[in-house]
Amino acid sequence: MHQRETLKINGKGHLEIGGCDCVDLAKQFGTPLYVFDEKYIRKMARTYKQTIDLNYGGNGLVLYASKAFSCKAIYKIADSEGIGCDVVSGGELYTAFQAGFPAKKIYFHGNNKTVEELTEAVKSGVGGVIVDSYREADILDGIAKAKGVRQNVLIRINPGVEAHTHAYIQTARTDSKFGFSISDGTAYNITTHILTLKNLNLQGFHCHIGSQIFEKQSFVLAANKVMDFIADVKAKLNFEAATLNIGGGFGIHYTDDDPVLTEKDYAEYLTMLIDAIKAKAGEHKLSLPYLLIEPGRSIVGEAGITLYTVGAIKDIPGIKKYVAIDGGMFENPRYALYQSKYTVVKANDMNAECTQKVTIAGKCCESGDLIAVDVPLPEVESGDILAVLSTGAYNYSMASNYNRNFIPQAILVNDGKAETIIKKQTYEDLVRNDVIPERLG
Ligand code: LLP
Repeated sequence: MHQRETLKINGKGHLEIGGCDCVDLAKQFGTPLYVFDEKYIRKMARTYKQTIDLNYGGNGLVLYASKAFSCKAIYKIADSEGIGCDVVSGGELYTAFQAGFPAKKIYFHGNNKTVEELTEAVKSGVGGVIVDSYREADILDGIAKAKGVRQNVLIRINPGVEAHTHAYIQTARTDSKFGFSISDGTAYNITTHILTLKNLNLQGFHCHIGSQIFEKQSFVLAANKVMDFIADVKAKLNFEAATLNIGGGFGIHYTDDDPVLTEKDYAEYLTMLIDAIKAKAGEHKLSLPYLLIEPGRSIVGEAGITLYTVGAIKDIPGIKKYVAIDGGMFENPRYALYQSKYTVVKANDMNAECTQKVTIAGKCCESGDLIAVDVPLPEVESGDILAVLSTGAYNYSMASNYNRNFIPQAILVNDGKAETIIKKQTYEDLVRNDVIPERLG
């Protein structure tokens, strides 16, 4: 485990996060438990904001990609740090508004937004809608007309850069349900179409090349391609994009296979991007665009851990040792979906030596319900508290009630204080929307 200011081993040999002993947290709140370290979230939000302030004259806005973790408290934190957010559904938008988030700092994404979602976006006055289809452009134009407003929009385009964790590939034609490709002319064509729509105000372009990316050059390449596109559009249509949204995607540390990045490294990633944009603006004689970035995982991912209690242990000699925990794919589906890797630690005895490799199994009725496979651990027994690290992004947000398990409680820790930000569900919550048709008696 790589230690940092807020995640460390305390004098009792227990894991500590945000000044709270994880064994105490497990006792007080029960497990499984999502724990979020407020200081880390704020530090990351600030890192991005300050980089734009210092290196780009404050000419931009950080949008927290709230798909990574959406709840009222996180919108409060983002707002208090002076950053905006992006949302991808009516549900995220509603949650943000419930937290009093300023509409102007919300950008609405999605490849197939519903008419209701688009109506809500226009009605509430969001800062921008990222348009991803002709259908959406036309519907949005109609809604804006009916409301008597001009809706700010960006177009999602594909620069033809596909990024993978440590590498990228350049593709001539992008096979993606998202965006319009630059290389085959569809990005240009939708631009000409949107410029004819009187009730839409085209601010600029958006691209997002992937997630959990460490390859800096891929971000730079994408930015270069979008800036070239902006220049091309200006030359041909006499329209100069005022805004460039470069998406999210910066990677985080899950296991020792991943680099350990500090806030300085993230600032450096962003600075490289900014330098590329400045150079391209110079080359093409463009004004510097207002810069939007959309980090999600890198703001909340390492801020979060999940605590579990060990239950059954099944040792199949010569094959595998399964250590079952009281969670599973219903609260963290990422192994089941992506074979994602995690670091697992014995939170109640951090100094114990790792002597074995075990597979952490969930409690769902499904063989593929695993959290981590063949991970090093010390000897463990029922009742031990395990912590899975870097679970702050895309865990709670992808949780479900599979097998009618509860989505766990989430707490926020800071300076030794722990507060609930999402309550634990109850059996009553599970049946709240169930209806028995009368004829079933
Ligand atoms: N902007 C757009 C348009 C996106 O699609 C995404 C993520 C982000 C920003 C934020 O990217 P980040 O900084 O978090 O990498 N469920 C998957 C991740 C899906 C990411 C989807 N888009 C996972 O658990 O790994």
